[in-house]
Amino acid sequence: MGAEKKLNLKLKIWRQPNANTKGKMVDYEVKDISTASSFLEMLDILNDQLIRKGEEPVVFDHDCREGICGSCSLFINGRPHGPGEGITTCQLHMRSFKDGDTIYIEPWRAKAFPVIKDLMTDRTAFDRIIAAGGYVSVNTSGNTIDGNAVPIPKDDADAAFNAAACIGCGACVATCKNSSAMLFTSAKVSQFALLPQGKPEAERRVLNMVAQMDKEGFGNCTNTGACEVECPKGISLENIARLNREFMKASVAGEG
Ligand code: SF4
Ligand code: FES
Repeated sequence: MGAEKKLNLKLKIWRQPNANTKGKMVDYEVKDISTASSFLEMLDILNDQLIRKGEEPVVFDHDCREGICGSCSLFINGRPHGPGEGITTCQLHMRSFKDGDTIYIEPWRAKAFPVIKDLMTDRTAFDRIIAAGGYVSVNTSGNTIDGNAVPIPKDDADAAFNAAACIGCGACVATCKNSSAMLFTSAKVSQFALLPQGKPEAERRVLNMVAQMDKEGFGNCTNTGACEVECPKGISLENIARLNREFMKASVAGEG
């Protein structure tokens, strides 16, 4: 890692009071930002300046600040989570920028993710997709089988684990020209479809989750693949192929 430097930056940030009022890009400047700062720390410094001047701070979503929770949903210089591969916005550092740079910061843009304020969007559509089937029912009769006693092929366990790495950040939707939620939904279907524990509810799960996804207003998948490129957790397009197979199987079974 190189020595710490200080950056002076121009920021163009989307400001929008609420979902029903038009927003616009507003110019700001920040000075002496350490290259060792995180991107969110840089925004904290800007907000500190704004509060001292009696202006409204910029609203943005964040929680864990370590790449786990999926809440730091920022579109930076035209890319979800900004420059860099396999990282969330909170894992982005200012060393990725140069002195004098202009940085564009926008919210996720998708009909199903309406802006709440400034850079914060309402992503509860994802919660409703999960509630439609992203769970397994567990036998609580006292005769429950220990999960570790169920043999699972290693390849299936690994693929399920990889699918379960999805943090629900919504970058896949934000980058997709159709605002499709297929990568997210397919990861959530796959993590159960690959495991014996997910089999009893498999048909109901995929049909209900896809129906909810459509109801929320996400667009169709046209296999562009931008979602896989921008996903911070490396969720593979293979999950979308699996979801399509699960959906076909469940649809045919429903007709029988
Ligand atoms: S599939 Fe990737 S980009 Fe989409 S919500 Fe999950 S972690 Fe985020
Ligand atoms: S704040 Fe939790 S993933 Fe970025």
